[in-house]
Amino acid sequence: MSIKYDNVIFDLDGTLTLSHEGITASVRYALERMGRAVPENDLKKFIGPPLVTSFKRYCGMDDSAAWEAVRFYRERYTTIGKFENRVITGIPRLLRRLRRAGARLAVATGKPRETSLEILEHFGIASLFDCVHGPDGAAMDDSKRELVRAAMSDGRSVMVGDREYDILGAEDNGIDSIGVTFGYGTKRELENAGATYIAGSIGELETLLCGNVEKPPRGLFISVEGLDGSGKTTQIGMLSDFLPRCGYEVVHTREPGGCPISEKLREIVLDTGNSEMTAKAEALIYSAARAQHAETVIAPAIEDGKIVLCDRYIDSSAAFQGGGRELGIDTVMRLNEYATGGLMPDKTIYLRLDDVTALKRRSGASELDRIESEKHDFHRRVFMGFDALSQKYPERYITVDALKAPNEVFEQARAALAEYLSEVNAS
Ligand code: TYD
Repeated sequence: MSIKYDNVIFDLDGTLTLSHEGITASVRYALERMGRAVPENDLKKFIGPPLVTSFKRYCGMDDSAAWEAVRFYRERYTTIGKFENRVITGIPRLLRRLRRAGARLAVATGKPRETSLEILEHFGIASLFDCVHGPDGAAMDDSKRELVRAAMSDGRSVMVGDREYDILGAEDNGIDSIGVTFGYGTKRELENAGATYIAGSIGELETLLCGNVEKPPRGLFISVEGLDGSGKTTQIGMLSDFLPRCGYEVVHTREPGGCPISEKLREIVLDTGNSEMTAKAEALIYSAARAQHAETVIAPAIEDGKIVLCDRYIDSSAAFQGGGRELGIDTVMRLNEYATGGLMPDKTIYLRLDDVTALKRRSGASELDRIESEKHDFHRRVFMGFDALSQKYPERYITVDALKAPNEVFEQARAALAEYLSEVNAS
């Protein structure tokens, strides 16, 4: 069996991404800068049509005021607004299936080409496309008809889009079109424009384009590690906002814990009252909690195509029990290999912060658990343990400098992850 179309051309806004957050926030910014009232109910209408027209129509501006508003709008949109965006959940999976089945993928958008590329790269999906066509400032005809024509190639082509312009652009070039109703257009608009097919969800679009060719790909497993005090909680919060924006379903979980039995083991192992716990018992409890969590939560989610984002995993045991408790990194790794059946993260984000700075940051905390209350020497060995692991697994480790300000730390982790997603998507 083969796929229905050799060349699949996608519109960007409303088809691959939902961009209203950045657009409406930038319209609001422009109006506030000009001291104008914000027409809350009309903000969504700014998505799609030329901005000047919308500022005139919905805010009663004359020509020069409308252009001033556009300048303010761009000030915010081109810096922050373009990334206040999200890839529609399930898009990377659909695109990967199509590519694996041999399709050529293209983008034909009314958004400037450079901004479009930046957005696709930011969310790790640029590598899936063979070409991206959008207005590029050069003297060219930027009509959808021309953009679609430029994106066409040999074989059967189809245009996928959420507005009538997309459908008409396909018709003008004599190719099929699929109107999607999960973007900014209505079913009626798409039917009236003459869409060959209508898809009401990503699932329907996937069935139309892929049939049962190529199984959906497996998901990914990402762990986040570092000393207590390295800013892990803040960074995981930011990552668990970013990854769904890349179009993935994300399972955010933690160790020790992540499922009822393992959470009970967490209470035991972190209880400051259990001061008599031996190092071996401690290592075995962490690995028992991991065995349950890996088999019942992590592995099924990966199998289901999701991204698992895990706050600590096997490397914590290697660093804390192997290094900190001096049981030996290799011994603890072997123990955990048995516990997890060898389930390892695809990538580990290591928030690298030295033990002295981590200690200073921790000293502000109100309550410390059994491990956090350990002596400084212990945390020094944990730090050395993580460093040794990062050298032992350079392919898997993404080491970021956690001394920097939270936003900068996040940007390092985000950029590295987007690059990795891009590699995975292209494979
Ligand atoms: P964590 O949940 O990161 O602490 P917090 O709730 O303060 O953010 O981890 C709990 C503690 O358990 C932490 O000090 C690290 C330690 N730990 C190990 O010693 N070995 C392990 O295998 C794991 C997962 C955690």
